[in-house]
Amino acid sequence: MDKYDQFKGQPRLPKSAVPRSYDLKLKPDLVACKFTGTVRISLDVVSPTRFIVLNAADLSVDHSSVRFCSRSTSKVLEPVEVQLFEADEIIVVEFAESLPVLAGVLSMDFEGTLNDKMKGFYRSTYEHNGEKKNMAVTQFEPADARRCFPCWDEPACKATFKITLEVPSELVALSNMPAFDVKVDGNLKTVQYMETPIMSTYLVAVVVGLFDYVEDLTPDGIRVQVYCQVGKADQGKFALDVAVKTLGLYKEYFAVPYSLPKLDMIAIPDFALGAMENYGLVTYRETALLYDDKHSAAANKQRVATVVAHELAHQWFGNLVTMEWWTHLWLNEGFATWVSYLATDSLFPEWQIWTQFLDESTEGLRLDGLAESHPIEVEVNHACEIDEIFDAISYRKGASVIRMLQSYLGPECFQRALASYIQRYACSNAKTEDLWAVLEEESGEPVTKLMNSWTKQKGYPVIAAKVKDHKLEFEQSQFLLSGSPGDGQWIVPITLCCGSYDARLNFLLQTKTEALDMMEASGCSDSQGSLVEAGKGKTNSWVKINVDQTGFYRVKYDEELSARLRYAIESKCLSATDRYGILDDSYALCMGCQQSLTSLLTLFSAYREEVDYTVLSNLISISYKVERIAADAAPELLDCIKLFFINLFQYSAERIGWDPKQGESHLDAMLRGELLAALSVFGDDATLAEARKRFHAFLDDRNTPLLPPDIRRAAYVAVMQNVSTSNRSDFDSLLRVYRETDLSQEKTRILGSLGSSRDHDIILEVLNFLLSSEVRSQDVVFGLAVSWEGREIAWKWMKDNWEHITKTWGSGFLITRFVSTIVSPFSSYEKAKEAEEFFAIHGKPSIARTLKQSIERVHINAKWVQSIQCEKHLGEAVKELAYRKY
Ligand code: BES
Ligand code: ZN
Repeated sequence: MDKYDQFKGQPRLPKSAVPRSYDLKLKPDLVACKFTGTVRISLDVVSPTRFIVLNAADLSVDHSSVRFCSRSTSKVLEPVEVQLFEADEIIVVEFAESLPVLAGVLSMDFEGTLNDKMKGFYRSTYEHNGEKKNMAVTQFEPADARRCFPCWDEPACKATFKITLEVPSELVALSNMPAFDVKVDGNLKTVQYMETPIMSTYLVAVVVGLFDYVEDLTPDGIRVQVYCQVGKADQGKFALDVAVKTLGLYKEYFAVPYSLPKLDMIAIPDFALGAMENYGLVTYRETALLYDDKHSAAANKQRVATVVAHELAHQWFGNLVTMEWWTHLWLNEGFATWVSYLATDSLFPEWQIWTQFLDESTEGLRLDGLAESHPIEVEVNHACEIDEIFDAISYRKGASVIRMLQSYLGPECFQRALASYIQRYACSNAKTEDLWAVLEEESGEPVTKLMNSWTKQKGYPVIAAKVKDHKLEFEQSQFLLSGSPGDGQWIVPITLCCGSYDARLNFLLQTKTEALDMMEASGCSDSQGSLVEAGKGKTNSWVKINVDQTGFYRVKYDEELSARLRYAIESKCLSATDRYGILDDSYALCMGCQQSLTSLLTLFSAYREEVDYTVLSNLISISYKVERIAADAAPELLDCIKLFFINLFQYSAERIGWDPKQGESHLDAMLRGELLAALSVFGDDATLAEARKRFHAFLDDRNTPLLPPDIRRAAYVAVMQNVSTSNRSDFDSLLRVYRETDLSQEKTRILGSLGSSRDHDIILEVLNFLLSSEVRSQDVVFGLAVSWEGREIAWKWMKDNWEHITKTWGSGFLITRFVSTIVSPFSSYEKAKEAEEFFAIHGKPSIARTLKQSIERVHINAKWVQSIQCEKHLGEAVKELAYRKY
């Protein structure tokens, strides 16, 4: 056995030596796209060893520079061997004799490339005075600090960092902490930053380039700055304001102040993610930080606010208290997601953001309804597995189960526990069970037992509810979209209301079945009233389970209960959250072939007078999916189904009109765009014509009031509907708008509309355009969602370009988006097989999970198609619905 074998193929580094502080000097060369560096790591040898093992990747370490110097004796030891193992991303420093337990300093020089892969230490490009320039940026999470400097690149190996940068003197150079010394020497300057508090390597950050900024101070005197491209400083003001206020909110909520002396937030033109919470230097995609008064949409504004709130939440949840290992990633991401809603709600109550939160739950439920899902707490054995778990399970299911727990324990108790958790684990690491223990202490409830059922097993239950002999019966079983039986069982916090929101009943469903006697139920109801009281005399009053949708489960009502709920929706008795939940559960049950399409469409018609943004927006996105599945399953009914949707949305579209009303709500502004886009996609002639007229007015004058930002995407989608190779002038005009704008949100809007063309040649041209130098590689994913007519073209295009795609995006997680966006829309077993065969040859480990999930979705669609084809009387029902007179 090789003496190094013991260090290879291990998920984690040996802990015989652990770092205490890093002294790191970096010198990026922005022209040659290289960097050199020196690191001195103070460490403790905690058990005698001849080997020091740390992470390094894509770096060349100067072996002759490697030294270990004992702190107490100042004796310098030179290693006998220094070996880099690229596959394991480690470097092993071997000494002739065993190092005793002592403190010492390991130092080494190294160099690397400023890569173009948007990870590690990379370059991003921008234009300044017409000249193309590079900036240097870091993106280290989850495990890419090792591509910038040798280090113990694990979240639990916290240390302090003293960073020094040597850069061209005219550039702005930022890091986690404020600079305390700048020495200019000709064209170069050396900037030294204050030492950071103890933190994980994935949070270290450096940015070097030309920037403008806006700034403000918090009441505590913390300086907050927003940096962006030269000339765009005004666009940073909104985020700045949100950040200053959010720091105040979190200080109060967590009962701990922000722990660094400054906070910088910066927009990076090439950025793989939405944003990254580096301690004290948060990096963002431009669309997630900059807001332009004239050309950004309400949805863009909301995105900026929620992303800022999310990243600042991490300054406590993640940076101050850090997950012990990636298995607990959800503690970071689920919590930041949930907390960001808390902050946004407090800053912008009129956005009704907790209703919009349901979109998070829905995405979580959709992914977790797959057999190929994974538990929230997921085993991670290799760095390459980490990227794929930044998914809807960690973020959205994570945030949803937190919301479920908060509503079970009550907000005050929950907040007290969180504050004490933050205090207890500040500057340290925590695991999921540590949080449960604190919550259990604070609440006296069996939190660990309850929550283990949600975080340690994948999936979730569907609760079947039926009325039988004055009894309400509940039965839980695992919900799987594939229809296969699952054997999971959960402890489910059930809540229900009957006929009114005044009486609410709560209980924990701990077994498979439970029955509530309507009479007995009055005994266990809370002090607000009783089920039987509330329902008294109303034999047909509605029963809504999972009140306000705070629970992470689905409900399947029997026919009787469903009919009562439909009536309650039409009579406007239910809250928006409940209307949303009934619709979404029904859609999921339909996709899972547990309910007919007829009954889903019949339910739709109860939403004709719907006014809530979130409910309508979900109704629209479900309609898109129903339209597509109908195109496969029952093409002869397609026109009728589209007509039904057009009629369904007409009521709201008329209410909201094309032009913004004076003082209208943020939600109406967002709704307008979605409604008009839907009417365009379903082919409403009047909408298409009006959109085209307004688009042309916009081409003549980019500031025309006829096409405000909130409806631009809708207009773009509308004009793309009729574009073809022989009628392509609108397409060319749209590309011209793309080329002329320097607002990233506008570019994204356009990319997101191009694929809605139904012409095969145009689709291919759009896809090829995505691979051109005109589209930043960060943005390609927005253009991949193509029309139903275009999916074959997209699939062939992906296969034809697979080599280029893997070369460009293969080392990050953007490649997973290619696979999921292009494969999942199919709906036949043959296509699933074809995809399996292609990836059996061309697949790679980093897309394995996504591929399995995408193939499973194709199987689910295929089964759904078959079930719709077997549905009796669907045709009559659709016709009746489409031509119904209101
Ligand atoms: N910590 C993440 C960034 C991240 C994501 C790093 C994936 C490595 C891999 C950050 O806090 C984050 O969650 N960003 C989100 C935006 C957020 C508002 C949901 C993102 O980038 O999409
Ligand atoms: Zn996050």
